[in-house]
Amino acid sequence: MCGIIGYTGKGDAVSVVLDGLKRLEYRGYDSAGVAYFTDGKIEIRRCKGKVNNLAGLLEEEKPASHTAIGHTRWATHGKPSEENAHPHRSHGIVLVHNGIVENYLSLKKTLIAEGYTFTSETDTEVLCHLIHKYSKGRPLEDAVRDALREVRGAYALAVVSEREEGKVVGVRKDSPLCVGLGEGEYFIASDVPAFFNHAKKVMFLNDGEMAVLTNDAVLVTTMQGGALRKEVATISWSPSMAEKGGYKHFMLKEIYEQPRAIADAVRGRFSVENGEVNLEEFGMAKDALESIGKIFIVACGTSWHAALIGKYIIEDIARVTVEVDIASEFRYRNPVIKAGDLFIAITQSGETADTLAAQKEARRLGAKVLSICNVVGSSSMREAEAVFYTHSGPEIGVASTKAFTSQIIGLYLFAIALGLAKKVVSAASATIMLQELLTIPDKVEQVLSGSEEIERIAKELFKAEDFIYLGRGIHYPVALEGALKLKEVTYIHAEGYPAGEMKHGPIALIDEELPVVFLAPQGSLHEKIASNIQEVKSRGGKVISLLTSGDTEVSGLSDYHISIPLSNTYLSTILMTVPLQLIAYHIGVLRGCDVDQPRNLAKSVTVE
Ligand code: AGP
Repeated sequence: MCGIIGYTGKGDAVSVVLDGLKRLEYRGYDSAGVAYFTDGKIEIRRCKGKVNNLAGLLEEEKPASHTAIGHTRWATHGKPSEENAHPHRSHGIVLVHNGIVENYLSLKKTLIAEGYTFTSETDTEVLCHLIHKYSKGRPLEDAVRDALREVRGAYALAVVSEREEGKVVGVRKDSPLCVGLGEGEYFIASDVPAFFNHAKKVMFLNDGEMAVLTNDAVLVTTMQGGALRKEVATISWSPSMAEKGGYKHFMLKEIYEQPRAIADAVRGRFSVENGEVNLEEFGMAKDALESIGKIFIVACGTSWHAALIGKYIIEDIARVTVEVDIASEFRYRNPVIKAGDLFIAITQSGETADTLAAQKEARRLGAKVLSICNVVGSSSMREAEAVFYTHSGPEIGVASTKAFTSQIIGLYLFAIALGLAKKVVSAASATIMLQELLTIPDKVEQVLSGSEEIERIAKELFKAEDFIYLGRGIHYPVALEGALKLKEVTYIHAEGYPAGEMKHGPIALIDEELPVVFLAPQGSLHEKIASNIQEVKSRGGKVISLLTSGDTEVSGLSDYHISIPLSNTYLSTILMTVPLQLIAYHIGVLRGCDVDQPRNLAKSVTVE
């Protein structure tokens, strides 16, 4: 959702910024633009659509510039169009913005009365007029500070001024921004992949912090102008991790990376021999775990499905009550949460506005916060007391795949640690559960080796216009995730349901055309799900079953089946998820959809 990149240094600023925008494409956008210094002036080029269109506009000009800012816009105020695309200008002030200016209407009214003319429908345009109003020959950073005192809402900004060539001012509130420190060149961006082929050293800005980039230095200050000493982090991701590496799409690459991602998520985090989980990995002491009263898990989208799975795992293994909330609902329902409770935020990006707001609310109410997150330096991680880093590596495909399965790993390890601390799990049973965890990367490999068969099934089904996904118990959220993945990357209507609920309504949908995907692993609910399959079959429905290898009962009832290796109930959710990701992927490709950047979606949803 909106991407920002700014550059100042000795290099070719426009190329660096265009390359950064390409690397931010995964965030989701509908228009793009760049502003660059040339001959003492700032030129702006903008367009609707993809960064490649923008690059096309600049191809002939090949501008020689050493300072530039760029933006990918995900429309909030005003349709996707060239006029609404960023950068926006007010006289010599030019800026790009991520976020929403909540009081833009009243600011706009005042600015119009003061003589400013608006050329776009955006909320952003008020910001450049406001900064211009306060500039009056003063340094850009001072004008930005003064202007922002009048602004309510969320923002990450990169601002330049024609009077101060070589300077880029970045500032944030409730929207991510980080600074890359290269060799004699500096970057400001919404996310590290925008520049990590140029700079590995990064400073993450906190709310209310400003960075002033010039040709030879970066100064970080508070909004009052006080200098700050910032910690510099070194990014270990290699640029190739954010490239397709021979795969046709990032989504496919990331599905295939899961054995590695899971191995990385478990590495060094427990001892099988002693039946122990390394608590330092959660940043929580044993007595802190022991004293947890109740747990709230809060997340959005796919991460919310991981949260639902986490409820089953934690309640079953550790016998602690867990409530799960969709983040956008949590803070508006006046939750009964208090000191002694644990709030777990699950977020791949660590920048989802709804999850962050819920996290803040939980802290305000006195709960301890654990963040299960995939992005080091993200807001969720920095604002949590305890962190479990999922180690999946950069997830570029908008549809989350490997981050989801690694979140389940985090929840499983947490449940075992909690069960041990609460003395409801013995070291011997922890050992068995941890041993099983070590087999999962190989078992996921086995599932992936059946990709051709899954593609064949996708070819039979890709013209369907509706799908139902059914599962019971812990596999009900897996059904939700299967349906979400299909919706996201194929635009086919799909619903996930608890299989036992089907007879209370959705059964009316069953006919010869409707594919019904059943999650039917071995386990205590196997017989129940087999009966649900019978109910669909007897009404002529098309059954696709995901079953445990060797289950001839369910395969005999199914039109198509996909076998997965045997595992315990908790970890079989991971093995069931992988074929669902592949079904969605193959159907999306067969339907000609942009599986990596589906329409209307953004990778990290940084507005409420
Ligand atoms: C997943 O495929 C989605 N694109 C989306 O639902 C996502 O999981 C959700 O927006 C939450 O993102 P987060 O994990 O980064 O907080």
